[in-house]
Amino acid sequence: MPQGAITRGTTNTNRLRRSDRWLATWPGLRSVADAHVVDLGYGASSTTTRELASRLAQVRPDVRVWGIEIDPARVTLAQEEIARAKPPVTNVSFSFGGFEIPVPVGVAPVAIRAFNVLRQYDEAEVPSAWASMVKRLDAAGVLIDGTCDEIGRVSTWIALTPAGPQSLSLSLRLTDLETPLIAAERLPKALIHRNVSGEPVHEFLTALDAAWRTSAPLSTFGSVQRWQATVASLVAAGWPILGGRSRWRLGEVTVAWDAVAPAAG
Ligand SMILES: C[S@@+](CC[C@H](N)C(=O)[O-])C[C@H]1O[C@@H](n2cnc3c(N)ncnc32)[C@H](O)[C@@H]1O
Repeated sequence: MPQGAITRGTTNTNRLRRSDRWLATWPGLRSVADAHVVDLGYGASSTTTRELASRLAQVRPDVRVWGIEIDPARVTLAQEEIARAKPPVTNVSFSFGGFEIPVPVGVAPVAIRAFNVLRQYDEAEVPSAWASMVKRLDAAGVLIDGTCDEIGRVSTWIALTPAGPQSLSLSLRLTDLETPLIAAERLPKALIHRNVSGEPVHEFLTALDAAWRTSAPLSTFGSVQRWQATVASLVAAGWPILGGRSRWRLGEVTVAWDAVAPAAG
C-alpha cells in the first residue's frame, strides 16, 4: 500500500515557478552522475511536472523526472496527457505511489518536490512523511515541502537534506505587495500553526514585516529595491539569511531552519 491518502488535486499552470527557479540552483543537480527528480503529488494534471522537467533541463539537460501520485485515476490521466504531448516528452513518466517514493531500484533522486501535498495532512503526520521521503534521496539530494497560493504569487517551502531540515524560503510577488505577512497563511504544515507569539517563525515574520515597513521610503525606486533593503536589514540584525542578493531580487528570502524551527515542547 502506498503511504498517504488521496487529497484534493488542485493545481495550476505555472504556479510552482518560484520554487522551480530555486530548485534549478541546487548544487547536487549539477554534480550527481544521474539526475533523477521526483514530483510527488502532482495533482489533477501533469502540467506542473512537465514544467519542472523543462525548467530543470535548462541546467541539467539529461534530467529524468518521475511524477508520483496516490490517486490512480490521476496517474492514468497524466500518462494519457504525456502520451499525446507534442513535441513528444521523453524524460518524464508517471506512476502510482506515496511517501515511500517508489522509484526503480538503484535510483536515488537528487530532488523530491512535494508541493501542496502535506498541507492537507495533520501536523503530527509531517515528521514521518519527511523521514520516508528523505530516506530515498541521493546524499547530495534535497526534499522541498512547500505551499503556494492558486497562481503562485505567494510561495513558501522548507528544504531538507539527508542531514535534516536546512532552511525556510519565502518567495513573493513584490508588485503591489502590502506586507510579507501574506506568507503566513501559506506556510508549510510544519510551521503554519506556529505563527504565534513565542514561536521562532512568528519572530521571523514579525521582523520581516517591520523591516518591510521601515524600508517603505525606498518604494520610490521600486518594490525590488524595497525588498532588497528589507532583507539586508534582517542580515544586519543577525538573522541567518542564506543565498546572495541575486535571490532577493526575485522577491525571495531564505533563512536557516534553526532560526525558525518550532520551539521544543
Ligand atoms: C493540491 S494537489 C497539488 C498538486 C501540485 N503539486 C501543485 O502544487 O499544484 C495535492 C496532490 O497530492 C496528492 N497526494 C496526497 N498525498 C500523497 C501521497 N502521500 N503520495 C502521493 N501523492 C499524494 C493528492 O492526491 C493530490 O493530487
